[in-house]
Amino acid sequence: MSSATKKVYVKSYGCQMNVLDSERMIDTLVPQGYAATSEAAEADLILLNTCHIRERASEKTFHELGRLRDLKTANPDLLIGVAGCVAQAEGAEIIRRMPLVDLVVGPQSYFRLPDLVTQAQSGNRPVDTDFPAEDKFDHLPRRRAVKGPTAFVTIQEGCDKFCAFCVVPYTRGNEVSRDAQKIIAEVNDLVEHGVSEVSLLGQNVNAYRDPNGVTLAQLIHELAKIKRLKRIRYTTSHPNDMGADLIAAHGEIEKLMPQLHLPVQSGSDRILKLMNRKHTAADYVRCIQKLRDVRPDIIFSSDFIVGFPGETDDDFAATLELIDAVNYGSAFSFKYSGRPGTPAADRPSLPLEVMDARLQILQAKITAQQHATQNSMIGRDVTVLIERTGRHAGQMTGKSEHMYPVAVSAPDARIGDLVRVRITGTVANSLLGEVLAR
Ligand code: SAH
Ligand code: SF4
Ligand code: F3S
Repeated sequence: MSSATKKVYVKSYGCQMNVLDSERMIDTLVPQGYAATSEAAEADLILLNTCHIRERASEKTFHELGRLRDLKTANPDLLIGVAGCVAQAEGAEIIRRMPLVDLVVGPQSYFRLPDLVTQAQSGNRPVDTDFPAEDKFDHLPRRRAVKGPTAFVTIQEGCDKFCAFCVVPYTRGNEVSRDAQKIIAEVNDLVEHGVSEVSLLGQNVNAYRDPNGVTLAQLIHELAKIKRLKRIRYTTSHPNDMGADLIAAHGEIEKLMPQLHLPVQSGSDRILKLMNRKHTAADYVRCIQKLRDVRPDIIFSSDFIVGFPGETDDDFAATLELIDAVNYGSAFSFKYSGRPGTPAADRPSLPLEVMDARLQILQAKITAQQHATQNSMIGRDVTVLIERTGRHAGQMTGKSEHMYPVAVSAPDARIGDLVRVRITGTVANSLLGEVLAR
């Protein structure tokens, strides 16, 4: 190790999986003498962990690279790497177009970062976008000390669904699930270090099936046995993979939190078909109903795409109807963005004004449902996992079972405590509460 510590700055775009991958990238570099910094200006190595999901997302990579040009001029020894889904999609093209980039690494091969950085230091400009057969997690060093009471754990990666609009099957590869025993060991380790809530991550997390046939429901049952683990969540799910055992688990496992992100994309069967979603709107609503039957207080969120090629006013109206039928706690919504290499890329797109108008209508409906759900919490008693100190003296904030941020006046509470709280009001996207007698 060199005498002076080198600094690595990682900027993460896109989904939670990237956020966790960014942490793990730093883990690979610590043995090389690197320490993480939050200041790009003092870094010896800058990694952009990129997202390719919509045109806007991948443009951010190129804007950021443009901004880094000055830093590179000021410090010619600075190394710049592009990681993540843009790296996977564009590969060597980035090296060709962007002279300031020193290395490119895809989401499945970043465990090789130490070697790639060494190569870059000696003036090569390596590109590694392999999908290695081995499990990258077996090659990663042990996770460093975790910072709070909650942690993400990747259990599955990749997607075999090939929705007509989506780059993920190409950037993340086939569905691969990690061995359940290794996940259980990792969670035990996290719990030893003070974690009491885990969020299991996967691009298609409920398609999880480990090499021994263990399903997500079975894995959650096993994890629930870990005494000091108090809460379990998982994301993101596909409606077609909500198996009977997983639905039942929501009624059986108290530690499984009553909040589920279950993207539907559209409420029109015609559009769902064009999207290659392989489910109808009615299938989806039935699935929601089954979950409510076993866990009546469950709250749902979703993703929607408006303006998918061919979407008519009637199709859009069907989406609004579905939103009425489900009643969401929140949702993300996006204008369709044609992505190179996907089946829908060549289909004629809708006028931007149409997409904008539909997005506004959809978002207004979701916002109304969100406020109503949030207000329905007032007067209810919830459990809050304290995650940090709040803005005001004596105030602590954390999340409720339904993943609402809650600000509580609780000067005696410590980070990691689970406190019973009565909800007294709401502000913006948060709830306010008072601690009940402990
Ligand atoms: N694996 C998850 C998330 C995929 S990406 C899933 O299957 O749900 C997150 C969201 O981005 C998607 O749910 C979709 O709503 C949106 N999205 C994906 N591709 C898009 C595109 N080409 N244009 C607009 N939105 C897109
Ligand atoms: Fe993309 Fe569809 Fe796979 Fe989700 S299920 S990652 S939207 S292809
Ligand atoms: Fe983006 Fe890749 Fe995640 S495209 S949303 S970073 S899987």
